[in-house]
Amino acid sequence: MKTTQEPNVTGHEYDGISEYDNPTPGWWHILFFGSILFSVFYIVFWHFSPLSWTVHEAWEKDQVNDYKRIFGTVGDLKPDQETIVKMAGDQQMLSVARSIFVGNCALCHGREGGGINGVNLTDDAYKNVKTVEDLYTVISKGANMGAMPAWEQKLSKNERVILASYLMTLRGKNVPGRAPEGDVIPPFPAVPGVGR
Ligand code: HEC
Repeated sequence: MKTTQEPNVTGHEYDGISEYDNPTPGWWHILFFGSILFSVFYIVFWHFSPLSWTVHEAWEKDQVNDYKRIFGTVGDLKPDQETIVKMAGDQQMLSVARSIFVGNCALCHGREGGGINGVNLTDDAYKNVKTVEDLYTVISKGANMGAMPAWEQKLSKNERVILASYLMTLRGKNVPGRAPEGDVIPPFPAVPGVGR
């Protein structure tokens, strides 16, 4: 019986308290050596193996997939009036464009387009724009010597086309912000399926 056995003690004693000399349990050894093995695998795989991937690569791959999912069905969008007006009636494209706008343009033009140090994009007055194609051109090439930056290196053509569509839909919302600048221009063409 265990109780009658002489207990296996280490021989240290402090204030009458002594210590059993029990072996560390098997599961503890498995965890201990398992962690060591895992750390070796981890370092070799993530730091030295050509098979591993970086967060950045994973992000790029996801972005390409996203791009295919969003634009896969429409192909290459032309920056002409017909295409820009058509996309302004496509709710999915507009929500994609809105997220591009919030991510890149809101800093200067405000989340709702009312203007901060960039002009108000929701009124009827424009400085560099007469037609919907001009929206695309200003987005691509910039304006006022870079005060409005050029986006042709940073955003794809499709993204710039649907941004122009999105800006069409902002016109007339008259979001409070900056006062109108430039000249009042003729109305943009009507968007099919959207009554304004
Ligand atoms: C660094 C600030 C800044 C950012 C970021 C910016 N803009 Fe601008 N934007 C301006 C300024 C300033 C003007 C006015 C240019 C001028 O005075 O002619 C302008 C003008 C414009 C115009 C022409 C408006 C008009 O009245 O002629 C459009 C269209 C436009 N921006 C769209 C965008 C879009 C779309 C984005 C995001 C992809 C964007 N902007 C990002 C500062 C910015």
